[in-house]
Amino acid sequence: MAGSIKTVGIIGAGQMGGGIAHVCALAGYDVLIHDQSADQLEKAIATVNGNMARQVSHGKLDEADRVKGMSRIRPALRMEDLAGVDLAIEAATEDETVKRKIFAQLCPNLNPEAILATNTSSISITRLAATTDRPERFIGIHFMNPVPMMKLVELIRGIATENVTFESARQFVTSLDKTLTVSEDFPAFIVNRILLPMINEAIYVLYEGVGSVEAIDTAMKLGANHPMGPLQLADFIGLDTCLSIMQVLHDGLADSKYRPCPLLVKYVEAGWLGRKAGRGFYDYRGENPVPTR
Ligand code: NAI
Repeated sequence: MAGSIKTVGIIGAGQMGGGIAHVCALAGYDVLIHDQSADQLEKAIATVNGNMARQVSHGKLDEADRVKGMSRIRPALRMEDLAGVDLAIEAATEDETVKRKIFAQLCPNLNPEAILATNTSSISITRLAATTDRPERFIGIHFMNPVPMMKLVELIRGIATENVTFESARQFVTSLDKTLTVSEDFPAFIVNRILLPMINEAIYVLYEGVGSVEAIDTAMKLGANHPMGPLQLADFIGLDTCLSIMQVLHDGLADSKYRPCPLLVKYVEAGWLGRKAGRGFYDYRGENPVPTR
């Protein structure tokens, strides 16, 4: 564990919040996880349990460690229940208004010494920090999806982030057995600045009829040696998250090369958000994913 951090609070129990809870609990941290939806909170903890059980069945985790890990994760039905944590990680929907509202509700209750981190994929850390009562103890800790499997974490300082905050975050990430890279605070940081325009371009290729979903994903898997095709990856990230990141890039860098593909906009408007919604560029409701175009 990292220095003075013993208890971690997580706000947002979606794909990322659950994954962050998983790795923190196995690294020995006490975890309190909160979501605005009690159903989602319950589902997230069940998913973590299922994922740890899969690690046990693959011989990657001892059953005793699974039991110990799960016992460290507690649901927090109210955000106020996170008051005593040493580190709070916001992992809610990629929407600046949502994140600002969370900080406004969380900060008055949060231990004044606690570090506040955001898992945002793209939004300015400096701008988010400025809406809180602790810009000097605010930092971007950007995990990758799925958190238990992906080795990288990006650390992003805001302009006001103090060295001691950065050092605590660095030790925390290292204690999770992750490798970190440091990114300056520019729209979408490093990974998504490069990845999302590629995914957006793949959606344009589909939109313009250059190739089918299957052709595009096969082309990039076998032709560029990517482990997953870009449309499959977009579904995996969540199409709402992909669109939000493209909008942050487009607004923040004011370059038309980041214009979100209209087909991506349409899918999000339809509620076809990818794997988490059961449908995106693939339909996940059957036994195997089926391409939809
Ligand atoms: P998700 O859509 O799976 O989960 C978001 C969760 O936030 C939902 O459970 C929702 O109920 C909850 N939420 C929304 N408003 C809330 C509020 N006011 N209070 C409490 N909970 C609230 O999204 P996902 O994929 O987990 O993404 C979460 C964050 O992590 C976003 O900022 C995203 O950009 C970032 N991220 C996502 C990655 C991905 O591949 N999906 C990778 C790395 C970062």
